[in-house]
Amino acid sequence: MCGIVGCLGREDAQSVIVNGLKALEYRGYDSAGVAIHSGQKINRVRAEGKLINLQEKLTEQSLPGQLGIGHTRWATHGAPSEKNAHPHTVGGVSLVHNGIIENYAELRENLIAQGAQLNSDTDSELIAHLIHHEISKNKLDFIEALKVVTPRLRGAYALLVMSEDRPGEMLATTNGPPLVVGFSEDSFILASDLLAIVPYTKNIAYVTEYETVHFQENKYQFYDKNFTSFIKEPQQINWTDDLVEKAGYSHFMLKEIFEQPRSMAKSLEPHINVENQSIEIKSLEPHSEFLQNLEQVYIVACGTSYYSGLVGEYLFEKISKVSCKVDIASEFRYREPKLNPNSLVILISQSGETADTLAALRLAKKSGVKTMSICNVEHSSLDREADMQLYMNAGVEIGVASTKAFICSLSLLNLVSGFLAKKKGVLNIVDENHLVASLMATPSHMESVLTCDKFFAEAAEHLKKYKGFLYMGRGVNFPIALEGALKLKELAYMHAEGYPAGEMKHGPLALIDEEMAVVMIAPKDDLYEKTISNLETAKARGGQIISVGAVNDNKLKELSLNFLPLPEVDWNINPFLSVIPVQLLSFHVANALGHDVDQPRNLAKSVTVE
Ligand code: F6R
Repeated sequence: MCGIVGCLGREDAQSVIVNGLKALEYRGYDSAGVAIHSGQKINRVRAEGKLINLQEKLTEQSLPGQLGIGHTRWATHGAPSEKNAHPHTVGGVSLVHNGIIENYAELRENLIAQGAQLNSDTDSELIAHLIHHEISKNKLDFIEALKVVTPRLRGAYALLVMSEDRPGEMLATTNGPPLVVGFSEDSFILASDLLAIVPYTKNIAYVTEYETVHFQENKYQFYDKNFTSFIKEPQQINWTDDLVEKAGYSHFMLKEIFEQPRSMAKSLEPHINVENQSIEIKSLEPHSEFLQNLEQVYIVACGTSYYSGLVGEYLFEKISKVSCKVDIASEFRYREPKLNPNSLVILISQSGETADTLAALRLAKKSGVKTMSICNVEHSSLDREADMQLYMNAGVEIGVASTKAFICSLSLLNLVSGFLAKKKGVLNIVDENHLVASLMATPSHMESVLTCDKFFAEAAEHLKKYKGFLYMGRGVNFPIALEGALKLKELAYMHAEGYPAGEMKHGPLALIDEEMAVVMIAPKDDLYEKTISNLETAKARGGQIISVGAVNDNKLKELSLNFLPLPEVDWNINPFLSVIPVQLLSFHVANALGHDVDQPRNLAKSVTVE
């Protein structure tokens, strides 16, 4: 949720940290701060609001020193304000925290009872108090203090800790939230995400669940859950740093929407044999026997990833002929689900770090059920822990609203359902060739749909005046209606609902009048006639119809105030195309309203807390 960065051993520690925070700003952006050890004391600068406010303060008051920590915050406990911004300093202990402490109230009460002076409303400051207390009152060593404090914390934490009396030392620990160490020459850079590290080094090591690293000058030591030391060798990654540029687009989100055809092609590439037009998912081959006998698929995810899972439900049931159930991770994990032992739980997550999705994976594994992750971030927690892994290959997604990862999840779900159908003997070679050919043709269809960008750029001024939007679709386009509504809510802060079109008469019809825009996704599929009847019902009540449908559908065009044409494609390909207009609608309306599209209020890219 928040972004943390640390640096040890570089003269330019402050700028390494600030550059790192810039790369991590997508994780939280309501306040930021940095603390640097000068050799004698820890100096700290914090600012409310976006990182630029901190940068401005630092131009007036730069912080010299080779050891430091920084933070970009997404508020959980305590309002976004300077006093609640990290680093939190208590006595000589200074720390940054990503996560959420669930026994916050109890810890706070105990500390107040012991006479602690609290300077913020955060859960994170309490950790600094606890560590300080162990060092100053109980005379524990730096790492010993951490060892006794962390078991008292319930919830999630990744921490970087410095102490004023230890100018060359830093502690890094996590019980789950992501933490990576970069090793360059004689220095170390730590961060929540590789993005902050790759400009400096490609030599990295992940700090995984319940691990701690103690850095001392140019040495480091890893410790496991029991604080027993062990050796972890760094690994070399092959990333390039130009992935985080806007490449001429005004916003990351717009760039990422336009990258979708290429991302989709890249997600398919490793798993299809172009010559034979066949699906070949090599990493799943060792699981062939299991897949052949599979009786049930569960898909578990959050937000946009959950909606891609809802499309997956249609794919698994229609293509693989396997029963499929889709769950929201935060519900699944507490529902005590009765999982069929002969089933597969698929977890979808762009970040691979979403706390609820990760908890769902662990629950499935504990029940003895096999798991498969579909992630964009390689080596993320989900990726590391699942029994089978597939990568979206979408490239770095910076805009907080997920776009290209959604497309790539859809493409992998198509491939997995086809692969499973093959293993189960329910997909003949002709149908397999057709499925692969239609998936391969999709990126160029997507290119053509992207031309509707111009329409939304022009129409946004008018569209932003509606009091609300009702999105409707049927079959695989019902999840697209949900996705359209989510995107408009999160970016334009407008009221929007996604509904299966056939459900309208059971309630939402009452919402419709001349001030309500109705976005109807009506491709020429099996349910076309029914969708058109639903559309006529909405129009008769004054609904302002914006429709998305087949290019030559004159009837739909006539019924609509605005009509966005899509190429005519198979039912399973439609969502790849119909999602583009709803993404662009949200982008342009939000932009016309003057909102920060890449960093919408109250949200963060990687939701590592419950
Ligand atoms: C919406 C959006 C969120 C994420 C959700 C899950 O545009 O981005 O709804 O889809 O927070 O995130 P991941 O996919 O990283 O698990």
